[in-house]
Amino acid sequence: MNILITGANRGIGRALLLEAQRRGYTTIATMRNPVESAYYLDLSEKDSIDKFADELVETVDILINNAGVLYKDNFGNLDYENFIKTFKVNTLGALFLTEALYKRGKLRQGGKVVNISSVLGSIELTSGTNSFSYSLSKAALNMVTKLLSNKLKGISVISVHPGWVKTEMGGKEAPVLPNDSAKGILNVIEEINDTGVFVDYTGKLLPW
Ligand SMILES: NC(=O)c1ccc[n+]([C@@H]2O[C@H](COP(=O)([O-])OP(=O)(O)OC[C@H]3O[C@@H](n4cnc5c(N)ncnc54)[C@H](OP(=O)(O)O)[C@@H]3O)[C@@H](O)[C@H]2O)c1
Repeated sequence: MNILITGANRGIGRALLLEAQRRGYTTIATMRNPVESAYYLDLSEKDSIDKFADELVETVDILINNAGVLYKDNFGNLDYENFIKTFKVNTLGALFLTEALYKRGKLRQGGKVVNISSVLGSIELTSGTNSFSYSLSKAALNMVTKLLSNKLKGISVISVHPGWVKTEMGGKEAPVLPNDSAKGILNVIEEINDTGVFVDYTGKLLPW
């Protein structure tokens, strides 16, 4: 069984790559600066997404849309360009990569698409944010999950919140180690039979 992970060079993506290899999956890693056998993929570029989908030989069992960016911004101090950059990677990158693989018949029936989302994108849970652009992009990504769960018959599509994780994005104060988040996410992927749901890395159901 193979597993494709975007943004696999650092943070949660790298931990997912190592944990997947430990569990015996065949891994397909994408990076903006690829090392070893990884593929080049810049999710903010539509051409890069299409080129990668053309080049990929394998059919994907599990697609993990992990790559993401976060720019701190708040109301009164919003930066238009940051919104564009954030939506390109966090929302459109995941959507267009999934579509590019689907259209080429490279998503396997019975497989899974996993969008790494965030509680910061939950409309019901939100009481504020230190990044409007990020929260909006993840709320929209959750809509991608819901819409694709209806469209992709025979493929499970879920949103997963990885916890607050000690990475460049999560910062030093974060309580969860990347390795523990990755183990939890892979457990969720292996155990879940549902589609169109939002869960955290422990398997707890989250409200949209
Ligand atoms: N850490 C947390 O507490 C936390 C909480 C909730 C959700 N998340 C989500 O978890 C995912 C991973 O986050 P992380 O904490 O591991 O972040 P991170 O350490 O900042 O890593 C982000 C990853 O995304 C890649 N990336 C950024 N822009 C890209 C682009 N245009 N094309 C391709 N790859 C790109 C980065 O590659 P480069 O090295 O090339 O920049 C890197 O591999 C993200 O979707 C994030 O929103 C994280």
